[in-house]
Amino acid sequence: MPTIDVNGRSLHYTDAGHGQAILLIHGFPLDGRIWAGVAERLVAKARVIVPDLRGFGRHTPEDAFTMADLADDMAAMMEMLGIAPCPVAGLSMGGYVAQTLAKKYPGIASRLILVDTKAEGDSAEGKAKRDAMAEVALAEGSKAIADQMLPNMTAAEPNPAVAAELRSIMESQPPKTLAAACGAMRDREDFTDFLTAIEVPVAFIFGRDDKISPSAAIEKYAAGGNTLTLIDNAGHMSPIEQPQAVADAIAKNL
Ligand code: MLT
Repeated sequence: MPTIDVNGRSLHYTDAGHGQAILLIHGFPLDGRIWAGVAERLVAKARVIVPDLRGFGRHTPEDAFTMADLADDMAAMMEMLGIAPCPVAGLSMGGYVAQTLAKKYPGIASRLILVDTKAEGDSAEGKAKRDAMAEVALAEGSKAIADQMLPNMTAAEPNPAVAAELRSIMESQPPKTLAAACGAMRDREDFTDFLTAIEVPVAFIFGRDDKISPSAAIEKYAAGGNTLTLIDNAGHMSPIEQPQAVADAIAKNL
């Protein structure tokens, strides 16, 4: 896996295909492997770049970071690879990174593709849950986070191979990074005003059975040039649950 030096770190990423570039940003508690099935279906049509965010995957664990830090990494990477402006897709926490990136660096994303994610910031109750999850990560490790999250991650009765792959990706994440990511998600901005005023098209792609980020919350933004695609037989992890349908929806936004 190649690495690129951005903001004092070597970030791992994959880069395959030619032509129009697209950046695919993973969610929590995951790494770029969550996009593998989508990426392999898109490479015939695009140059597909899939980073592991700082601290995730095989990176050195991180003690603390913000959504802005993650967006800065993506902006620097896009500039160094010469791919900006291009479509930027983010899954769940990756959607928070994508929205932060588009707001902080106007014009860097030619369009946003928001997958199983939210515009709203965390409520007070949500913030308290982030702190509790960070404590679990540090005290009990990534397996405890996987045990806690997995029942809500997919549609009911997921393909066993998909569930096993998902668990394996989740359990392999460094606990320290997971705790840091909980803090970054807790403190993220509310993007509701931003999404209402954004000037580039936004494609929303949601698992029809997403229990963590239900599509009903973003339906109001899917107007004008924006679109909403609901993926059947998928929950919060639609890119790994239904990679063909998600790749097809993304391909319409290249
Ligand atoms: C994710 O899938 O990235 C997380 O569930 C996002 C969140 O907890 O807000």
